[in-house]
Amino acid sequence: MAEKRILLKRVGKMTDPASVEEYEALGGFASIKKAVQMEKEEILQQVDDAMLRGRGGAAYPAGRKWNHLYYNDTWPKFIVCNADEGEPGTFKDKVLLSKDPLAIIEGMLIAGYLFGSHEGFIYIRGEYHEIQQVFLKAIENATKAGYLGEKILGIEGFDYTITMVSGAGAYVCGENSALLNSVEGKTGRPRIKPPHLADVGLFKKPTLVNNVESFACIPVIMEMGGLAFREIGTEDGGGTKLVCLSGHVKNRGVYEVPLGTPLQEILYSEELGGGLSTGRPLGFIHFGGQSGPLGFPEKMEGMLYSYQDLWDHGLAIGSGAIVVMDDSVNVVDYLENVMGFFVHESCGKCTPCRLGTLRLRELLQRFQKGYAKAEDMQRLESMLTHITNLSACGLGQSVSVSVKSGLGNRRQVFEAMMG
Ligand SMILES: Cc1cc2nc3c(=O)[nH]c(=O)nc-3n(C[C@H](O)[C@H](O)[C@H](O)COP(=O)(O)O)c2cc1C
Ligand code: SF4
Repeated sequence: MAEKRILLKRVGKMTDPASVEEYEALGGFASIKKAVQMEKEEILQQVDDAMLRGRGGAAYPAGRKWNHLYYNDTWPKFIVCNADEGEPGTFKDKVLLSKDPLAIIEGMLIAGYLFGSHEGFIYIRGEYHEIQQVFLKAIENATKAGYLGEKILGIEGFDYTITMVSGAGAYVCGENSALLNSVEGKTGRPRIKPPHLADVGLFKKPTLVNNVESFACIPVIMEMGGLAFREIGTEDGGGTKLVCLSGHVKNRGVYEVPLGTPLQEILYSEELGGGLSTGRPLGFIHFGGQSGPLGFPEKMEGMLYSYQDLWDHGLAIGSGAIVVMDDSVNVVDYLENVMGFFVHESCGKCTPCRLGTLRLRELLQRFQKGYAKAEDMQRLESMLTHITNLSACGLGQSVSVSVKSGLGNRRQVFEAMMG
C-alpha cells in the first residue's frame, strides 16, 4: 500500500517552494483561475460535495462552516489560517507550510474571493521560525506576481492581502477563539462560545478559521471537483489525510493516505509505517495528539482509518497524529506524562481545568508510587467527568479523553499499581 499524494504532489519537486514560477509550472494557481469563472454558489457546492472535514482536529465539515459564513451579510469578513500546530505528535502542517506554501495561499485566496474578504491572516507557530521566513517569501512572491494585492487576476474589487502572525508557544492559542484574541494583540485565551466565530470573530466580524491542511485541500477540490475528492475518501469524510506516524514505529514521518485506508496498512505496510521499530507487540496507539483517545489492539481489528470507523470504535482522527507505543510502555506512566503537558498548557482561566489537571496528575502519580487506594480510583473517575463538563474550552474538555480510554481498557494496570 503506497501513499496517494494529492496534497503532497509538489512536495520535494520544487527547488524553491516559495517560487510562483515553479508553483505554476506544477499546476499552481489554476484553481483560483477556475474558481473566478464559476458562480460563487458553485464554489460552495464543490466544497460541500467534497465532504471535507476540518483537518485541525474537530472534524467539522468545511462546507457547513463555509455556508454559514457565506450567508452572513455583515462585512468585512476575515479569513484566518490556523498554522499553530501545537498538538504533540502532530507535524504535518509544517510540511505544507515549508514545502508548498503557495498552495495554502491559493486555498485562502479562493476563500477570500468567495466571501468577498479583503484580508487574510495566517497564525504560524512561533517555534517554526524558519518556516515563517519561507512563508513570508511566498507571500512576497505571490504579491509581486499579482496573486495578492489589488485587482487580482484583473478583477475589479478582488483585493486581498495575507498577513503572517507569529504564535508565541502556547498550545491553547491553537484553539480558534484564543488564536483570534492573540491576532488582535490580546492575551491568547479562549472566548466563551457562542457566538460562533462565523458571526463574531476577528475584531468582532464574521471570520472563517480553517487549518492549514484544510486550506490546502481547497485548490485540489476546485481542480478535481468536490465529488471526485469525496470518492477518494469515504462517504463521511472525503479526500486524503496527512498522518503523522511517531513513537515505536519503524518509518516515522508524514504520509498522505486516502481516508478509509485500513489502519493495519498504515502501521505495517513497508511503504508506510513498516511495523514496530522495537520488534515487540503493539501496546496502544494515541490518536490525534494528547487531546485524543488511546486505541488498544484488541479493539482495533479490521478498523479503517476513516472518521466514522474511528468514532464507531470510540476513537477519533483528530489532527492526524498516530503515536505508536509497544507493549513495554506502562499506560499509567504514559498518561501521567500526558497530564504533565496539560498542567503546563492550561491557560488558567477556569478552575476545573487549572487545578483539575494538577490534581489528576497527582492522582496518577499516586498510582505510580503505589500509594493509590480505592477512594483514589473513585476520585479519579469523578474528576474525569467534572473536568470535561466544567471546562470552558476544548483544551479542558479533552484533558480526560486519554485517561478515560486508558482506564476503560486497562483498568487492571491501574489496579495492579494500587497500594
Ligand atoms: C487546545 C486546542 C488547540 C488547538 N490547536 C489547533 C492547532 O494547532 N491547529 C489547528 O488547525 N486547530 C487547532 N485546534 C482546533 C481549532 O480550534 C479549530 O477547530 C480549527 O482551527 C478549525 O479548522 P478546521 O475546521 O479546518 O479544522 C485546537 C483546538 C483546541 C481546543
Ligand atoms: S478549559 Fe483550560 S485552557 Fe480552556 S479556558 Fe479553561 S482554563 Fe483555559
